[in-house]
Amino acid sequence: MTAKIIDGKAVAASVREECRTRVDVIKERYGVTPGLAVIMVGENPASKVYVSNKIRACEEVGINSTKYLFPDTASQEEVLDLIEQLSIDPTVHGILVQLPLPKQFDIERVLGAISAQKDVDGFHLYNVGGLVVGNTIFPPCTPFGVMRLLQHEGIEVAGRNAVVVGASNIVGKPMALMLMQNEATVSVCHARTRDLAQFTILADILVVAAGCPNLILEQMVKKDAVVIDVGINRLPNGRLVGDCDYEGVRKRASYITPVPGGVGPMTVTMLLVNTISSAERSLMAASYRASTNIHEAHGAQ
Ligand code: GUN
Repeated sequence: MTAKIIDGKAVAASVREECRTRVDVIKERYGVTPGLAVIMVGENPASKVYVSNKIRACEEVGINSTKYLFPDTASQEEVLDLIEQLSIDPTVHGILVQLPLPKQFDIERVLGAISAQKDVDGFHLYNVGGLVVGNTIFPPCTPFGVMRLLQHEGIEVAGRNAVVVGASNIVGKPMALMLMQNEATVSVCHARTRDLAQFTILADILVVAAGCPNLILEQMVKKDAVVIDVGINRLPNGRLVGDCDYEGVRKRASYITPVPGGVGPMTVTMLLVNTISSAERSLMAASYRASTNIHEAHGAQ
């Protein structure tokens, strides 16, 4: 038996359908359209593609998006000034700074300037801390997308051995925390791990986000494991591949995500989910404040 292929494109399409409905409800109930601000500094070609995908996805579900482009010579102060304005703009529910930033930027300082209530990437230290204790406002989009795929397939996480390969701030570390929050027994492997296979072979759920083609071979995978390949690598011949030897690994696994068409479509989709959740949260809080003011005024009469 070969693995069931998890169709990230189809799951993303159904989540986007839910997004469209939630946006319509917000518009009808509050007369407000959810808004996302996307800031990009410099001309990184991959970032340009990611940013245009995010803008297009917003359009698709009815979210207002605004792109702010700075040249790579821009100063950190200019970008911080914009973030400050957007943080207090009530029409903006999500703010995202596309990474990487040019080297003159202090990433922690820039990400820390985004209001934690609008940090739809989930990169602000407040939200990272929230993830550690299991109640972040915004789960980071890629691991959030992976959890959604597991849930969609009805894959049990609690009590299972999960191994995460890659320990980046954007994927590996938050992925490990989310799996732990869902009661998996989690190991995190990284570039300095010795004998990777001794860990991967124990995984019931193997999430690979290392950015290294063919890192995971068939013999490194436990029979019937669930394999989630987060890697996106462009080979010299132009082909897009993940971090796993897909043809080999799919012979042993019970589930596998393809590249492209697995985790990738979920990342942008979960950004839409976070932006809509942010709009719902702020509008509900505003209407609650308005209703309690009315009661107070009434009581005072
Ligand atoms: N660069 C690579 N991945 C991401 C992401 O998920 N968010 C942002 N803001 N930048 C990225």
